[in-house]
Amino acid sequence: MKFEERELVLKDGRTCILKPTSPEYAQEMIDYMKKTAGETDFLLRYPDEVNFTLEKEKEILSGLLENPYAVMMMAIVDGHVAGNGSINGIGYKRKICHRCSLAIALYKEYWNLGIGKAMIGYMTELAREIGWKQVDLEVAAGNQQAIRLYEKCGFRESGRRHNALKSDDGTYSDEILMYKEL
Ligand SMILES: CC(C)(COP(=O)(O)OP(=O)(O)OC[C@H]1O[C@@H](n2cnc3c(N)ncnc32)[C@H](O)[C@@H]1OP(=O)(O)O)[C@@H](O)C(=O)NCCC(=O)NCCS
Repeated sequence: MKFEERELVLKDGRTCILKPTSPEYAQEMIDYMKKTAGETDFLLRYPDEVNFTLEKEKEILSGLLENPYAVMMMAIVDGHVAGNGSINGIGYKRKICHRCSLAIALYKEYWNLGIGKAMIGYMTELAREIGWKQVDLEVAAGNQQAIRLYEKCGFRESGRRHNALKSDDGTYSDEILMYKEL
């Protein structure tokens, strides 16, 4: 969906712009998915699992921009992509269509500047405007930084999925399920 740009001043004094992720940023988004997947073990994809062609990525981003029930938000600092976040419905069946799910990842050099908190705040505001009643998310049990941030943004733990994640080195980790009522 299209939404208003929002500016915020970061902890280091720079300005960050939050705006809809548009198809012109397709190549930047592919680069971003690949690089962020390699910077942390807490994302679902490995870098070699990012295989979108430029055309496909453009098509996906155009579809999301025109979809009034999808939020795709990018953070820009000094003209560079700092990160991306999204909110999407869980499904269309009537018993679950009150719920949406949230995802977010920033390049490591932009962690701890306040971008995550601002993006989650803005994305949940938009989710409320769209009409969803609850935001759900899953986070790796070891991802303390993200869990603390989600708690600060009003999310609560609702459960734990045993051995939900298996890394290439063969180790397993649980996922924490979190929710926020809107
Ligand atoms: C998780 C992520 C989005 C957080 O974004 P961010 O911009 O770094 O977060 P913010 O700067 O807005 O806020 C961080 C907050 O967490 C706190 N925090 C930071 N590091 C922390 C740590 N190691 N332990 C506990 N709390 C921590 C800070 O105190 C800050 O709170 P404050 O602003 O009230 O002081 C970002 O680190 C990221 O992209 N990580 C990699 C991808 C990822 O894990 N995504 C989530 C998958 S579910």
